[in-house]
Amino acid sequence: MRMVAAAKINLGLKVLNRRPDGYHNLESVMQQVSLADYLTFERVSSPGWQFKSTVPRLGGEDNLVCRAARFLAKRVGASPPGVKITLYKNIPSGAGLGGGSSDAAATLRGLNIFWRLGLSSRELAELGASLGSDIPFFLHGGGTAFARGRGELISPLPPLPLFWVVLAKPSRLSISTASVYGGLEEKMSPVLSPNILREAILKADREAILNWLGTGAINSLQSSVLTCYPRLGRLRRRMGELGLKAAMSGSGPTFFALSDSYSLARQAAQILQAEGYRAILCWTVQRTVTDR
Ligand code: C5P
Repeated sequence: MRMVAAAKINLGLKVLNRRPDGYHNLESVMQQVSLADYLTFERVSSPGWQFKSTVPRLGGEDNLVCRAARFLAKRVGASPPGVKITLYKNIPSGAGLGGGSSDAAATLRGLNIFWRLGLSSRELAELGASLGSDIPFFLHGGGTAFARGRGELISPLPPLPLFWVVLAKPSRLSISTASVYGGLEEKMSPVLSPNILREAILKADREAILNWLGTGAINSLQSSVLTCYPRLGRLRRRMGELGLKAAMSGSGPTFFALSDSYSLARQAAQILQAEGYRAILCWTVQRTVTDR
């Protein structure tokens, strides 16, 4: 069995306040893109689960795939039928693209089928929320959605019209989400309410969606990350010179831009790649499963 685990970008992310549990309440419009990891699930004779990743340093027990499998195995009790999970990694990790969360969601969906647990997407999303704030978005089918709470309360939105998406980050830079939220106090960028974008999406107003991205004030975490990593400011400016209005996804360091033009997006991605950035051309995708 093979599962696709697509990445996400945050088309808007407004942090509201720090909560007593240490997390932050936020509002975000999340969008799935075509860049994806793949997971295979193969039957093996020894009971329980085994895990391998095409990127060896991600093959440890602390990988979210392992944590998700351990979590579900506990629910099965005794000894679940043997399965070997292989993760084919494409999404950069620690990049603000939700790769680990998407892998965990695909693991929960995959093992739910493989071990015949019969859990609904809603039940899986509740389980997923205890592993990571972004996981429920993927378990609700991804696509386009409005997220609240610490990111785990998901209301699906109508699909975004098709846009080309350029993703770019410095090649070897990854950032821990916890460190960005931890250093946030007093350094939060003032941003517009993602409800403005939500309205534009509900009206399928393509121009308003692009205008929103052009405002440059859509992610509360951006200025604090730019202060810590000045080279991200240079990346953002470079993307601007190439005709792309870029914003940061999640806690970074990936910057993304949407474009109507395939040739502009492709050329920009090629130039950024040639300049040493990790640049990826992909596109917006629609929801893959419906809630039960
Ligand atoms: O939920 P997740 O494991 O992705 O969160 C990683 C860390 O990011 C949390 O431990 C927390 O420090 C921070 N975080 C937060 N508020 C959120 C999401 C994450 O403070 N809404």
